[in-house]
Amino acid sequence: MRILVVGSGGREHALAWKLKQSPEVQQIFCAPGNAGTASLGENVAIPVGDLTGLARFAKQNRIGLTVVGPDGSLAEGISDLFQSQGLRIFGPTKSAARIESSKIFAKTMMRNAGIPTATAEVFTSSEEALRHCESASYPIVIKADGLALGKGVVIAPDRAVARSTVDAMMNRARFGDAGRRVVIEQFLRGSECSLHVLFDGSSYQLLGTARDHKRAFDGDEGPNTGGMGAVSPATTWTERLEQRFDQEIMQPLMAALKEEKVEFHGLLFPGLMLTLEGPRVLEFNCRFGDPETQAILPRLKSDLLPLLQATIDGNIKTQQIIWDQRPAVTVVLASGGYPDKYETGKPITGLAEAAAIEDVQVFHAGTRQTGSVIATSGGRVLAVTALGDTMATARARAYQAVSCIQFEGCYYRRDIALTSTMA
Ligand code: AMP
Ligand code: GLY
Repeated sequence: MRILVVGSGGREHALAWKLKQSPEVQQIFCAPGNAGTASLGENVAIPVGDLTGLARFAKQNRIGLTVVGPDGSLAEGISDLFQSQGLRIFGPTKSAARIESSKIFAKTMMRNAGIPTATAEVFTSSEEALRHCESASYPIVIKADGLALGKGVVIAPDRAVARSTVDAMMNRARFGDAGRRVVIEQFLRGSECSLHVLFDGSSYQLLGTARDHKRAFDGDEGPNTGGMGAVSPATTWTERLEQRFDQEIMQPLMAALKEEKVEFHGLLFPGLMLTLEGPRVLEFNCRFGDPETQAILPRLKSDLLPLLQATIDGNIKTQQIIWDQRPAVTVVLASGGYPDKYETGKPITGLAEAAAIEDVQVFHAGTRQTGSVIATSGGRVLAVTALGDTMATARARAYQAVSCIQFEGCYYRRDIALTSTMA
């Protein structure tokens, strides 16, 4: 089978790397891909937003399965388009992707279904939102309704920040149309956990847990990023939590989607806050996480392809998922300045030395190859994953590999998988 992976990040490199190991996979294409995916197959210069171009490519090249990375392509309806042309694709339809692309849709559904989440109010007028800011008790969390590259959530510690955030989102179009409507919600305390669930329309299987590190700097300081590192499994996850997740979140969610006549086939990624009162849903994503995927997939012993196929076909329960019991630690190497402005085009050295270390995988994100030189081309440049018998061994190995790699302006967190950051 010929596979097309849509996207160009570390997540897509990890997906392509794992799918390439399937005995059924003959060739992998990645659109547009990066220097890492180029080493596994063929990069195709079609942007993730060019849905008709992607469908045309899939048809012309007899692609047996397209796997979609980015939320934006799903929200724009890539799956609807492919399905209407008889092309097989992994990822929810536009309607089902609203669970991520509209926080208002997700919040309303959670509220109606009784799914535990932060108490929230929806605002479509900035005057009302500003009035709410006057009487709220702080901190509060302000979320743009639509997709905002992971930057649409602001934790406002006080009234001044809340006011300026509402003004920027609602009046000054800081996130374009995505922020014209906002959700303002209660600030939850606890430890965060990312779940990956293969959801086949009517049943599901858990595909791993992870803990992401979203802040840019050590000690959870600095701005929110797409994610600066991850560990898998999440050390806080227990069998009891898994039962509660099923009963309190997945069962009511499946009933609510049925009621809405929305059929979700794909990867559901609930972001949870584990509070003293129990698990609370912070958000639902409708695609693989980045960098969670880079930590989860190296632990997956089973072939990924049949799992994706079964999710599309509605029989995920027939699949057995086998894990490497060892934990994984992923460290992201970023360009100086990320998540704000940064420079690109910096040559990267030490990639082969890092990859030669036992149980280490170097996943590329913002990289580009010109001739024999691999250089930076994005904010998050690489994600280095290591497995180890213990979290400490995995961590030491990951950082040993990271220390081999150099490029101008490179920065990374030094506290990924430290016990103090995982509680
Ligand atoms: P989201 O995109 O909704 O997951 O939000 C991004 C990040 O903001 C989350 O990973 C949390 O760290 C934080 N966050 C979101 N909602 C809340 C909340 N209600 N309370 C505390 N932190 C939150
Ligand atoms: N790492 C968080 C995300 O992929 O949304």
